[in-house]
Amino acid sequence: MTYKELIAQMTLEEKASLMSGKDFWQTKDIKRLGINSMFLADGPHGIRRQQVAADQLGLNAGLPATCYPTASTVANSWNTELGEKVGDYLGEEAVAQRVHVLLGPGINMKRNPLCGRNFEYFSEDPYHAGKMAASYIRGIQSHGISACVKHFAVNNQEERRMSIDTIVDERTLREIYLTAFEIAVKEGRTKTIMSSYNRLNGEYTNENKHLMKDILRDEWHYNGVVVTNWGGSNDRIAGLLAGNELEMPTTAGQTDQDIIDAINSGEIEEKVLDECVDRLLTLIYSTNDVFERPYKKEVDIERHHRVAQKVAEESIVLLKNEDNLLPLKFGKKVAVIGDFASEARYQGAGSSIVNPTILDHTMACFEESGIVSIGYEQGFERYGKKNRELINKACSLAKKADVVFLYIGLDEVTEAEGLDRKSMKIPANQVALLDALYEVNQSIVAILSCGSAVEMPWIHKVKGLLHGYLGGQAGARAILRVLSGDVNPSGKLAETYPFSYEDTPSYHHFPGDEASVEYREAMYIGYRYYDTANIDVLFPFGYGLSYTTFDYSNLQVDREGVTFELTNTGDMAGMEIAQLYVGCQSKEIFRAKKELKGFKKIFINAGETKTVVIPFDDKAFRYFNVETNQWEIEEADYNIMIGASIADIRLKETIFVQGTGAPFPYHKDQLPSYFSGQANDVSQEEFEVLFGKSVPIAKWDRHQPLGYTDTIEQCQYAKGVVGRLTYYTITFAHWFLWKIGKRNTANLIMMSIYHMPFRGIARLTGGIVNMPMLDGILMMVNGHFFKGLRHVFRERRKKIKKANSHSS
Ligand code: BGC
Repeated sequence: MTYKELIAQMTLEEKASLMSGKDFWQTKDIKRLGINSMFLADGPHGIRRQQVAADQLGLNAGLPATCYPTASTVANSWNTELGEKVGDYLGEEAVAQRVHVLLGPGINMKRNPLCGRNFEYFSEDPYHAGKMAASYIRGIQSHGISACVKHFAVNNQEERRMSIDTIVDERTLREIYLTAFEIAVKEGRTKTIMSSYNRLNGEYTNENKHLMKDILRDEWHYNGVVVTNWGGSNDRIAGLLAGNELEMPTTAGQTDQDIIDAINSGEIEEKVLDECVDRLLTLIYSTNDVFERPYKKEVDIERHHRVAQKVAEESIVLLKNEDNLLPLKFGKKVAVIGDFASEARYQGAGSSIVNPTILDHTMACFEESGIVSIGYEQGFERYGKKNRELINKACSLAKKADVVFLYIGLDEVTEAEGLDRKSMKIPANQVALLDALYEVNQSIVAILSCGSAVEMPWIHKVKGLLHGYLGGQAGARAILRVLSGDVNPSGKLAETYPFSYEDTPSYHHFPGDEASVEYREAMYIGYRYYDTANIDVLFPFGYGLSYTTFDYSNLQVDREGVTFELTNTGDMAGMEIAQLYVGCQSKEIFRAKKELKGFKKIFINAGETKTVVIPFDDKAFRYFNVETNQWEIEEADYNIMIGASIADIRLKETIFVQGTGAPFPYHKDQLPSYFSGQANDVSQEEFEVLFGKSVPIAKWDRHQPLGYTDTIEQCQYAKGVVGRLTYYTITFAHWFLWKIGKRNTANLIMMSIYHMPFRGIARLTGGIVNMPMLDGILMMVNGHFFKGLRHVFRERRKKIKKANSHSS
């Protein structure tokens, strides 16, 4: 232990006090021992530091900060140096705002395109997400503060995120859902990890010893801190035993008392607490260091804005460019149409919301772009229905133009924390506008703004398609610079775009049933499924166009890695993202046909050739063997493929790789879907073979009274009228608020009330309601109204008396 002597000076109460927050964002201090508190703040693409956490829920706006493109956007740059730069700038701003722990990046896998927080995550591929995350972390932590990768782990949906039990087999867990975290820990050396709200195979992740101890601590040798997601702590003692150092936000000392009681009663040994305190102190001291010396309190807002623009420029993806319509030829007259051109869509909703320092909007940046605009028309209302009048006006303008720039996408409340999207479509009123425009002008370039994959049955009606994702506060200007040709687009998709939602591998098992979600597709998420099962997609993983062309040649493969040449065969300097895929030729262990094992982004001048080297690393040939319970290598011939995307392999070689000699863990005849790769609708029986046991019952047990871990949503079958009434009131309030256009508030109700487990009432109210009072509430909900009410009042009196006796 590093702080053994200091810990020896602490009372049990002091030690326990450090294990939970002081308020919504800060940890506790112990002044007499010189232990300072830390400030934790979101987030992943900009600092959201609240001046005061006045609203208990931490929802009021943050201080102004640069809003960088979201992770799903920067992911398209495939540039880890750029990722490090974003981290560096985030870190600088965090220090200026006196933030010790920055709550990001978010690195969950994009299992399904509808996950409401996909805009905050990097990729459907763990290697890609892990490398990008490690680069962010390096950048952030270069300032002495801590990053915090989240949400550990298998938090791949927002629906019922605080209660859902994720059922996933061990190999898939390791290869798909944990690898990005492993890279973040081992290569990024993150000092903090946030546990997720959900359960993993029956246990809350925060209490899951297999995840938190066997894997995180013992295998990955992680020595940092685990913080709960806000209000995500369930059983504090189980959490402590699994190594959870910090519960956030404050519980007004309630759970500190649980720890004290557990130690006093002998339920746990004091040394378990000491170890957690030691790791927390390490974080406190290491992140406080920077603030002990003079540090920069001001940031150059303009410079940071320009960096945000550069990051957006490198992340934009050109998806279609018929007749080389782009870059726009000099003197072409452009009609600018679409609500998003006047009010940029640049970030998602929820805890990651940044209050930007500056905000670029397309129309304001047009003049400097050199593109000749003949006018702007709104065309559609962001939250409205099809509007004939707006469409007519847009068509009149389009008729006069050479080219139409059509700004479409998803609105702010559709991509939000706490809720999943309902479909992969863009709103019908936008498609109606496109249909009408197509009748009058067929030179349409669509500019798409959204943070996740959408269906595009309308794609044949546009000649050009530029995907800006969610480009942050300077995204609008960045897009214009690509359209004008000032910037050659170099982004490539870090997720697949299927033709339709029904094609997605988790279509039948998302977001699961009432109590659990089964990951029956196993490792076949994203391209691993489409490519292996030969399903045609709209845009494959790793796809993106440039204004120039690249030629790949001279592949050489040896034990260390690959070397090849890349030539810019066009007439414009540009950047290419070359991707290394590996596929095993043996069929003894089922796998995806190709898996990403390396990538490089290279700048090449027109006509120039560069040699590219991509080394193999420890992940190139490994797979997780469930028999030996460790990573193994199968002895076999492997295809080594260099591609411009997963579907565009340019160079290929075969090498033989010596194996580790582990026994094959599967019987092919028992797992036909997995061996064929057709894993989009696996039967329960087959999944159970893979999973190694029966899956739990996926429905709520409606005969049981509601308890701490049941959600408010479950009040629909509560025994007490009060419970059912609560349910209907909330459902009505949501419906009503949505109807009158208060969509954000309606969403908030879903996120922070509807899906909240009862214990959240105590965990997230900063002590206003304590657990004994919650017992009373549960009695009321479960049909004992008066008894429950009396209980609530009695416990409230006790609480007040105790508080008074402490203060006197
Ligand atoms: C989110 C986290 C976030 C935390 C603090 C939670 O609801 O899931 O990502 O960091 O709130 O705002």
